[in-house]
Amino acid sequence: MINPTALMECRPMSTLPDLHLKHIVLGLSGGIACYKSAELVRELVRAGATVQVVMTEAATQFITPVTMQALSNRSVYLSQWDARESNAMAHINLSREADAILVAPASADFIAKLAQGRADELLSLLCLARPVDRCPLLLAPAMNREMWAHPATQRNLVQVKTDGATVLGPAAGDQACGEIGDGRMLEADELRDELIAFFQPKLLAGRGVLVTAGPTFEAIDPVRGITNHSSGKMGFAVARAAAEAGARVTLVAGPVHLPTPRHVRRIDVSSAQQMYDAVLPLAAQHDIFVATAAVADWRPAAAGTHKLKKDGSGRPPTFELIENPDILATVARLPPAQRPWCVGFAAESHDLVRHAREKLQRKAVPLIVGNLGPATFGRDDNTLVLVDAAGEHELPAAPKLALARQLVREIAARHTPRPT
Ligand code: CTP
Repeated sequence: MINPTALMECRPMSTLPDLHLKHIVLGLSGGIACYKSAELVRELVRAGATVQVVMTEAATQFITPVTMQALSNRSVYLSQWDARESNAMAHINLSREADAILVAPASADFIAKLAQGRADELLSLLCLARPVDRCPLLLAPAMNREMWAHPATQRNLVQVKTDGATVLGPAAGDQACGEIGDGRMLEADELRDELIAFFQPKLLAGRGVLVTAGPTFEAIDPVRGITNHSSGKMGFAVARAAAEAGARVTLVAGPVHLPTPRHVRRIDVSSAQQMYDAVLPLAAQHDIFVATAAVADWRPAAAGTHKLKKDGSGRPPTFELIENPDILATVARLPPAQRPWCVGFAAESHDLVRHAREKLQRKAVPLIVGNLGPATFGRDDNTLVLVDAAGEHELPAAPKLALARQLVREIAARHTPRPT
């Protein structure tokens, strides 16, 4: 029989699922948000993790252990006295195997127990017994907004964070009780992405990264315009990878239909001039600028206020084009105190390295990332070639997010933070 794990081992690192070889203890305490934990197990398993579910007695009132067992493909732990453990130490065994413990939902009561270091049932016991330096604890709170806002809960949260726990969310919105406010547990895909980000090395911690992404749209009249095939996927992946690496990220996006990566501040623009106007005042507030946008080189000198109509002559209308400002080149020439470390992209159709090197010099940037536009626009994977003063270095074909994470590593290796 073919062993799927063995097949995985043959794949390059960049194409392995994000949680490959991660073993997660997923703890459920009592709360209506337990229904989301079923989906969360599926998301974690799809992302390559193995998941061991541990439930408090209260959690079993909201969702059955059988459901969680079927989804995780492992029988659920409910009690410290579980007879399966030959040494009768489920709390030690479970917390020693885990790469992380994620408690989702984490009820107000459960957080209070953690804050006090209480250990009167298996889940709080194994949280207390975990080796803090090897087994991180992440909490996804879920509760009514009044419970969340209560000073006792807020006090307990400060305490569990001081003790080393990471708190994910909560979100604001509709609550099961009919009220609206803070305290909703994050959605399953959000928690999955939080966990994936948690495991990424924090190579850009404390640094600000400004990213442009997508195409621009240059209006000809109110219904038509000049644009290009850029989907924005590479730029959004760079923004996500930088945020995962601990950076404070601002993403200036042209017209694309992509969800905003978590913890990324997004500014939507349409034209090259709007992108320029958004980027320039932000440049000095960031340490690194990554220009992935496929900015239109030209725009109509004057966009018509009404739709251009056929005049019956059979001759198409003519209109003058003027050049757009070069955002990257302008940022790269700011005075040193205001200038972030700049990375340009070169989307070419041929002679990739030659054109990328020419742009490295023309735009006066330390790094250009070349890719073949027609081969990558709209796709989920890409091939990149990094061109700098030292030479060329290819990042072979891989999903755009994997390439973005490699690019973040390359940037972190080259960029020296400014002295504070
Ligand atoms: N760029 C920019 N502003 C522009 C044009 C390009 O910031 N007005 C940036 C892009 O985001 C990219 C790099 O410059 O990081 C190279 O863009 P590209 O379109 O490949 O090159 P151009 O400078 O437009 O040159 P050409 O069209 O001749 O290839």
